[in-house]
Amino acid sequence: MDKFKNIKLNRENSQHLYIQLSNAIKKMIVTGELEPDTKLPPIRKLANKLGVNNVTIVNAYKHLENENYVYKKVGSGTFVKPKIEYQEMGLHVPIDTEFNSVGNDSKLINYDIITNDVTINFASGMPTPDLFPVSDFKKALNEILDTDKGNAFGYQESQGFYPLRCSIKNYIKSYNIDSETENIQIISGAQQGIDIISKALIDYGDVVFIESPTYRGAIASFKSRSARIIEIPIQEDGINIKSLENKLKVFTPKFIYVMPNFQNPTGYTYSNNKKEKLLDLAKKYDFYIIEDDYLSELSFNNLKGFPLKSIDKYDRVIYIKSFSKIFMPGLRLGFMIFPLSVYNDVISAKHVSDISTSGLIQRTFNLYLRKGIWQKHIQYMQTIYKKRFQIMTNSLNKYLPKQVHINLPKGGLNFWISLPNGFSSNELYNLCIKNNIVIVPGSVFYKDKNDSNYFRLNTASVYTEQIDEGIKKLSNILIQFLKIYGNKELRPTTPLL
Ligand SMILES: Cc1ncc(COP(=O)(O)O)c(C=O)c1O
Repeated sequence: MDKFKNIKLNRENSQHLYIQLSNAIKKMIVTGELEPDTKLPPIRKLANKLGVNNVTIVNAYKHLENENYVYKKVGSGTFVKPKIEYQEMGLHVPIDTEFNSVGNDSKLINYDIITNDVTINFASGMPTPDLFPVSDFKKALNEILDTDKGNAFGYQESQGFYPLRCSIKNYIKSYNIDSETENIQIISGAQQGIDIISKALIDYGDVVFIESPTYRGAIASFKSRSARIIEIPIQEDGINIKSLENKLKVFTPKFIYVMPNFQNPTGYTYSNNKKEKLLDLAKKYDFYIIEDDYLSELSFNNLKGFPLKSIDKYDRVIYIKSFSKIFMPGLRLGFMIFPLSVYNDVISAKHVSDISTSGLIQRTFNLYLRKGIWQKHIQYMQTIYKKRFQIMTNSLNKYLPKQVHINLPKGGLNFWISLPNGFSSNELYNLCIKNNIVIVPGSVFYKDKNDSNYFRLNTASVYTEQIDEGIKKLSNILIQFLKIYGNKELRPTTPLL
């Protein structure tokens, strides 16, 4: 029981008390402070000691059991599992979902890391599990099973469950987007949306434009269709319009793939002027704009991150919306809104991909939307992510050595940081891994760079109370890194052509 007296739970913290407790016990297990088969304290005793409700302890123990760290003996209590059993389930997570789609690129497979409980994960874009609305979703799921019965398990219309498309049509009015149900396609995640567009629109050798840097999964998808990919630099207020115009005089792209709000990886947001300019250019040069809106809800500085689709006066924007970052990536659910000019191509590309998105998930999500539980959940996510964002910006301002540079974003989850010219973020990544911190080296976000002086941090997978400690640790690593590598001959960071 003595070992438990140092556990500190923080009621001010956005994380549930039971999660805080379960994390503290997990740490004791992983570090060996609690040996295998040690009995955890009785519920009431620990509750008294920590000044919390019995339910908090029950939930923490249940959480640890679900995660395989402890086992229950009926009538005797809860015990620590042998090490080997919880190590086996050591989370083998891709640093970001984008890494799933890069096939046999061995450099990136190396970035597929094993995390453990002492790892501070600034790399993954997957929300921490405590953010998932498990019990609300369970209720909706049960209700669907009761009402829809076997119908929930049949094939769904390829374009998507009609009542869900109606709900989405209503829902997107809050984003100022007007659409008909026939323009809406349900997709199994945004990555599938990008892939469907690639199948539908790209023929061998077609030109597509991307922001540089950009989301890796999109590059992989365009490459898989043998597209000729042209990178256009992104600036703090959006794509470099001059460079875009110059490229448009030379190439005829099928489309440009952009993230106008809180771009991945830079966190940058387009100014209204650049949004308008991009639409005008799409009309003038006759190309589509693929808008990947995965985060526009997460605006934290009174910046209205409205989607390009909401001002799409020329019907040029194919809008892709993922629910992964603000809901549950594992559901594999999102939607697309497309101009009718690409209707046949999109519908048949979706059919070829997976016939239809899971009917059970579509029906459950539809109920979730209709009952307004979704809106409540978004507000919850906004609060948590805002807190993480604020702590992150404060900590970066406080600890980062002055030789590294960041343009702080106005929302979202991503922070794009540059080392002085010539320094390698691949080397920094390796040093961080040795110190149980994970970052994403910048080269991942370019078409064919092997190394870069940029790296990305993300606040989705890091618990709020780990952020300050993590940034402090990272900054100390950076200070060492700049000293060690500053004395070496600098490595080139240009792409291998
Ligand atoms: C910009 C961007 N688009 C799309 C995706 C894929 O999202 P989904 O999980 O909805 O397929 C990601 C995932 O990290 C992303 O960062």
